[in-house]
Amino acid sequence: MRIPNRIRRAIIPAAGKGTRLFPLTKAVPKELIPLGRKPVLEHVVEECTLCGVEEIIFIISPAKDAIRRHFGESVGNIRFQYAYQPVPLGLADAVRCAKDYVADEPFAVVLGDSVIESTHSLPPFRRVLDMFEETCADAVILVQPTPRDQLSRYGVVKPKDAVDSSFGFEIEDIVEKPLPDEAPSIYAVAGRYAFKPSIFEYIDRTPRGTGNEYQISDSIRIMIEDGGRICCVALQDGEVRRDIGTFETYFEAFALELAKESSR
Ligand code: UTP
Repeated sequence: MRIPNRIRRAIIPAAGKGTRLFPLTKAVPKELIPLGRKPVLEHVVEECTLCGVEEIIFIISPAKDAIRRHFGESVGNIRFQYAYQPVPLGLADAVRCAKDYVADEPFAVVLGDSVIESTHSLPPFRRVLDMFEETCADAVILVQPTPRDQLSRYGVVKPKDAVDSSFGFEIEDIVEKPLPDEAPSIYAVAGRYAFKPSIFEYIDRTPRGTGNEYQISDSIRIMIEDGGRICCVALQDGEVRRDIGTFETYFEAFALELAKESSR
């Protein structure tokens, strides 16, 4: 019997140009650059497998077919599908490209260029899926407490009430890349989401935003304005998001991965 809110599919957007890692990403897609012994995307796929995801829909571009060649049709019990985003018009637009693959089922979105390190046995992404399955939230977002001077790189949520970060909390707003003194909290989106399929309706209503792109934060904002209930799960001690979007954060993630490898 199918559990109504059970998430079986994850969309992994990986069609961006990776301009901040030029010239490296002119030769290799950002999501395939190495993090230790394997490409970044293999770490992300492993995280999905550990969390019980059965099917992944990669969003790629014709220039990033190397991702399709690398993963093929399946590995073990996990199936791979590929949808194309011809022009990288933003995360909301990338998610829209997978609409026909997810039909009317809830799904997850997992960024292909961010890895979540965890010292615990289950990745924090599992708590996102659990919260989505157990509540009637329209979306659940993983967030990370972040130093104020770094908040303007991310989407930042505005909690509804005072936050006890060891539990989930509901939000009343989300702002994409706010100015440091305009950030509504210290909780930045950490690249993992769970959505009801109604998000597609809100993506269709989303105008271009920051960077002239269609931002998923703006779609979530419209969902909230329409009465949608959005909850967050916060990263705890021993759990850290590692972005590989810039050389600085990529080198940092690589150094930590090497340290982990050599302590094994
Ligand atoms: P980013 O905005 O960090 O990646 O998107 P980017 O656009 O490739 O990087 P820069 O700014 O040019 O350096 C986060 C993830 O979402 C994907 C990217 O491939 C990346 O893995 N993405 C982003 C898409 O699939 N489509 C888009 O339109 C934008």
